Amino acid sequence: MNIIGEILEVNGIKKRVAGILWDEAEIRLRVKELAKEIAGDYRPILKQYPDKNLVLVGILNGVVPFLADLLRELSKYLPVDRLRYDTLAISSYGQGTNPGELKIEKDLKNPISGDIVLIVEDIIDTGYTAVYFKQLLIHKGAFDVRICTLLIKVARKEHEIEPDYIGFELRENLFVVGYGLDWADLCRFLTSIAYLEDL
Ligand code: IMP
Ligand code: MG
Repeated sequence: MNIIGEILEVNGIKKRVAGILWDEAEIRLRVKELAKEIAGDYRPILKQYPDKNLVLVGILNGVVPFLADLLRELSKYLPVDRLRYDTLAISSYGQGTNPGELKIEKDLKNPISGDIVLIVEDIIDTGYTAVYFKQLLIHKGAFDVRICTLLIKVARKEHEIEPDYIGFELRENLFVVGYGLDWADLCRFLTSIAYLEDL
């Protein structure tokens, strides 16, 4: 599937898929490496706390492909009876408001109290979303909360939070789509991570 050069148009705004940053094979390899790193860190913790489970909390919708791939890789290295996942969805209040003002669109299915939680995000830009979720899950009584993000925009230095696990660093301030990430809900299905240019 060659998506490069495709023009996207939403509400009169046009963008072009300008190039691929990471292809399917590179993403697969990085997810495998991340899973090994994460499993290595959590194996002793799960051993130390035999009554606690590791719950991956994915932030919808962008995280779906990454969450699915990461979970299946993790299940190769961690005890299968100790691994769970749940999802949360949020949205910003209105348009052009303070990016810190978020509301929950879909809450967790199960109580998280006492669990070892790994928040799984698609991308961290300012970090507001990640900070909000970390506080929310601590408030809900999670025993331990860490953050894993597929991508982080390092060009933006506003980050209030350093994620514990990072898939890829985006050094330039590009807008990216694919592997779950979207522009106006487009391009989530791409197997690679591409960047857009304004037209
Ligand atoms: P933050 O709260 O500023 O860290 O924003 C994170 C959220 O903004 C992500 O969960 C995405 O939904 C969205 N976002 C930020 N940058 C991009 C991008 O380049 N492509 C797609 N979505 C993005
Ligand atoms: Mg998102």
